[in-house]
Amino acid sequence: MFDWLDGAAAVRDAAGLTRRLRSRPADDPVLDLASNDYLGLTRHPAVTAAAAEAALRWGGGATGSRLVTGTTEQHTALERELAEFCGYQAALVFSSGYTANLAVLTALAGPDTLIVSDAHNHASLIDGCRLARGRVARAAHCDPASVRAALAARAEPRALVVTDSVFSVDGNAAPLAGHLAAARAHGAALVIDDAHGLGVLGPGGAGAGAAAGIAGQPDVVATATLSKSLGSQGGVVLGPERVIRHLVSAARTFIFDTGLAPAAVGAALGALRLLRAEPGRAADALRVARELADRLTDAGLDASAPDGAVVSVRADDPEHAVRWAAACRGEGLAVGCFRPPSVPDGVPRLRLTARADLTAEQVAFAAGVVLKTR
Ligand SMILES: Cc1ncc(COP(=O)(O)O)c(C=O)c1O
Repeated sequence: MFDWLDGAAAVRDAAGLTRRLRSRPADDPVLDLASNDYLGLTRHPAVTAAAAEAALRWGGGATGSRLVTGTTEQHTALERELAEFCGYQAALVFSSGYTANLAVLTALAGPDTLIVSDAHNHASLIDGCRLARGRVARAAHCDPASVRAALAARAEPRALVVTDSVFSVDGNAAPLAGHLAAARAHGAALVIDDAHGLGVLGPGGAGAGAAAGIAGQPDVVATATLSKSLGSQGGVVLGPERVIRHLVSAARTFIFDTGLAPAAVGAALGALRLLRAEPGRAADALRVARELADRLTDAGLDASAPDGAVVSVRADDPEHAVRWAAACRGEGLAVGCFRPPSVPDGVPRLRLTARADLTAEQVAFAAGVVLKTR
């Protein structure tokens, strides 16, 4: 029955695209520039204490779906505080950013809806488009004119424009104001996946919507993960109250999924409160990203110019990317190794996370290792 898997594995191996799991010890001595812990909060004492307290008080799991027993007072507090911080009317917390994206696209779009989706969008948005069962137009990357053209040619009564705020591979930002103007000109709404913008962009890290001055608009919905800057796990949808009310009654990944675990809710709340008390963290992440990118570019590498906390460097081919990442690890530096299908254009890359808590020495060390192992 599964004999065909051996053939598929051989094809993957030959293309350098086999993926392997690595269990990391709690005290891994390497410098971590592979994670999405943009603000360095995952192990911050205030965050881990909030997670532990929540688990002790509410239990190991949420006990049920959000509509049955899975909504604790903590979930409600997190939704209120996230909406307030990011500048939206209301928020709804999900078990992941992935399920939040599926929820928005399937509940707000259907066979009568055109979805205009940026060519480099995250896999979870692409899957949401597929599940929505409407027509999908793939817009050229970061190109409001392409969005306008797709919307102008539509026959469907409703339309959504969908984009990542900061693209996960190169860390470049979407032209959100241009996209919203294009959407408005054609009676469409804008959906922003702010997974890589929350905690990094906008005043104090309030996100890409706040940075672009469009958060809280009646035709703007944002999603985000709680697993990157907020150092926890889970996802959120932010938007007008009537959108959030609709999701509660219509989004299958909300209704048929167990609520986010109390420890994760506690950690996210702890991180959010820390971010509000110490708003400089977002700017630190951006500063570190630019320092890192400058060092790599000055040394002649093909590094991205980051708008967020991600810097990527192009590799020659998938095997080279794997060898390069392994060599970095051998020198004490963990970096991400992105190969197809995790890159939008087929070009493999090393991906480095510019954590807000990196020192100047650590940035110099990381750049030195990436260069010397090239
Ligand atoms: C742009 C983007 N959207 C959504 C997700 C999914 O979030 P989660 O990991 O919480 O499911 C990710 C990555 O994890 C992402 O990078």
